[in-house]
Amino acid sequence: MKIIRTKADLRALTESWRRAGETIGVVPTMGALHAGHLSLVERACAENDRVIVTLFVNPKQFNNPEDLAKYPRTEDSDAEKLTPYGADILYVPDGAQMYPEGFATTVSVTGVSEGLCGGARPGHFDGVATVVTKLFLQTDADRAYFGEKDYQQLQVVTRLALDLDLKTRIVGCPTVREDDGLAMSSRNLRLDDSARATAPVIGRVLDRAAASMSAGQPAEETLARAREDLARAGMGEVDYLELRGDPDLKLMTHADRPARLFLAAWLDGVRLIDNVAVAPY
Ligand code: PAJ
Repeated sequence: MKIIRTKADLRALTESWRRAGETIGVVPTMGALHAGHLSLVERACAENDRVIVTLFVNPKQFNNPEDLAKYPRTEDSDAEKLTPYGADILYVPDGAQMYPEGFATTVSVTGVSEGLCGGARPGHFDGVATVVTKLFLQTDADRAYFGEKDYQQLQVVTRLALDLDLKTRIVGCPTVREDDGLAMSSRNLRLDDSARATAPVIGRVLDRAAASMSAGQPAEETLARAREDLARAGMGEVDYLELRGDPDLKLMTHADRPARLFLAAWLDGVRLIDNVAVAPY
């Protein structure tokens, strides 16, 4: 696997692959790779002749400078973790490659970007939409792989690829979980032992609430009970716990069509997010 740091070097390689008639898959990441990221890489390698993993901690999607500063930067161990998978390139652009002097364009998706993490983190999805559009164009990818862990992000990216006539097809991949059900996230490493022991309650409460709404229970009462269960188990403040339609992400009161249940909550100073499918009753 080659490490490439400039758009020009990347273009030279993608153009030679294109001349040979090869397909290209891209897996955009911010590094600190874990099994969740690696599942996307594995899928990309199975479905494309060439695979580019991108590593860029995108300042435009952090609305909190402290969060950006605290984001783990572990390029060497990330490269090592990728070695067995057969990705061709780890593309690691710096800020000047992505946002040269005078950069003034924002890609902004309405609708699916509103509410949930879009409400709690103003500007976040504009930052995501802008950087992934650039990454799709820079890598010339046929397919791009995103995790359902960040389900709203997956819908924002799907919408923008469709709306801007990008040739890159968006592939959503299931959330990878620890054995105890906690969705894998680089943020889990910031939990102390006691918080780490509490965190799996998220998966349990979401599954229980989803089953209850699939059986026809209204969202309002089910989610009020779920909030109580989370608080009793020691979870901190809940940013949101909402039933939303899939894939439009409109608020729902009953699971009378395909939906997902979304949670963002604080634990030990760490904001954790998760979501599960809710089958219609
Ligand atoms: P990052 O948080 O590094 O995640 C990169 C990709 O890995 C995303 O598509 C995310 O949904 C996926 N992922 C993370 N945890 C996962 C899990 N437990 N199971 C399955 N997939 C998982 O998301 C971003 O970076 C950025 O916003 C990015 C798209 C790279 C744009 O900067």
